[in-house]
Amino acid sequence: MDKFVVRGGNPLLGTIKISGAKNSALPCMAAAILTEGEIVLENIPQVRDIETERRLLTSMGAEVELGYGRAHHRTRIKCGILSDPVAKYEIVKTMRASSLVLGPLIARTGIARVAMPGGCAIGGRPIDLHIKGLEAMGATITQDHGYLEARSPNNGQGRLQGAHIVFDKITVTGTEDLLMAATLAEGETVFENCAREPEVSDLAELLNAMGAKIEGAGTSTIRVKGVAKLHGARHRINPDRIEAGTFLIAGAITGGDLNVTDCNPAHLGALIAKLEQCGVKLDVGKENIRVRSGGALKAAGISTEEYPGFPTDMQAQFMALATQADGATTVTENIFENRFMHVQELNRMGANITVQGRTATVRGRTALESAAVMCSDLRASASLVLAALVADGETILDRVYHLDRGYEHFEEKLRNVGAQIRRMGDVFTKK
Ligand code: EPZ
Repeated sequence: MDKFVVRGGNPLLGTIKISGAKNSALPCMAAAILTEGEIVLENIPQVRDIETERRLLTSMGAEVELGYGRAHHRTRIKCGILSDPVAKYEIVKTMRASSLVLGPLIARTGIARVAMPGGCAIGGRPIDLHIKGLEAMGATITQDHGYLEARSPNNGQGRLQGAHIVFDKITVTGTEDLLMAATLAEGETVFENCAREPEVSDLAELLNAMGAKIEGAGTSTIRVKGVAKLHGARHRINPDRIEAGTFLIAGAITGGDLNVTDCNPAHLGALIAKLEQCGVKLDVGKENIRVRSGGALKAAGISTEEYPGFPTDMQAQFMALATQADGATTVTENIFENRFMHVQELNRMGANITVQGRTATVRGRTALESAAVMCSDLRASASLVLAALVADGETILDRVYHLDRGYEHFEEKLRNVGAQIRRMGDVFTKK
């Protein structure tokens, strides 16, 4: 398994260009299932989850072209015939966001078989709200041998029916999954207590370009007027706000001077406000943010909330920064039940973090030392890299495949601004 070797101590200086958002690209690729027309998506990030989604769609009979290269990160998807509308376990188990094909499949073909995603390192990750919403739209859903089988009315022959759905909890992919299903339902669907994440709005923009009739995406209430068919479209994926936030913290924690470009600062309000509270200097442009040290970091607590609150996907990275702040920082994780795996690894590097239920307390600042550490999930991996950038000596990070799921060319982007980071394959890979 690939490892990173990171030698700490260099301030990061220069420019980092942000890639397209994985969490926008995944639902937008799934939306291609809704039409036999061609969907072209620009600004697709070259990350492992996108390749997994390509394999998933191809396994169902879709034609998927995935082109990377200097000029374009583009995918062309054509779901002319879905010969095998099944999301198989061997793919779903590697990426639980595969559940995003459930709504589109049942809306397009009347039937869907999707392996239950199962949990992951950060929590149980149920999809009961996806199921409840589809049942409210007239679907019959049964479970057998670890698979969900969903059928539209009349045993898969009829269309889903418009409904009034109030989400018990705010769910990002739940909102996206059901939004896609509703575009082809008969009649109007009103969703309340929706996720307001920018990725939901990005998906709705694509769906409306395909001929859907969606209003209110980005707010808590979304109205969808069902249509009989959708057509092909071309769409550019939003910049990745979590990648941008991760590099802002990289610039802050190393006391560097970093210009993060091709991002959308409007999607980073909560993080920007918190970093400024810590004393970090930020110059916010239209599509870029320059981050510099503003002297000693001050402790400022966070509590993760749904968008536009402080994002749970930035919690681990912020905790790494908090180890370098003077004072005690409280970090409360309200979204996932087990998203503190990075704590014990940070403590092995010399941090002083204690956990009580959903709240971690980081006492800083502490000098971090290099160590051999283990990555456990995507954002925890990023947190450990950030800590290693300021640790004394050479840190070895194992299982960086977690990081490859959601960050494009992570180590190259960091090396280009002065970080001492390299990827070390297993001893059996050729030198
Ligand atoms: C999306 O996951 C993101 N993934 C996650 O990013 C992100 O952390 C999360 O939203 C929260 O912002 C993608 O978009 C592909 P949720 P999702 O449904 O949709 C509970 C990353 O690092 N819930 O909003 O799966 C759930 O257990 C990943 O890029 C139910 O109870 O998250 C959680 O406690 C990690 N029943 C809460 O809601 C359901 O049916 C929020 O989950 C669905 C969710």
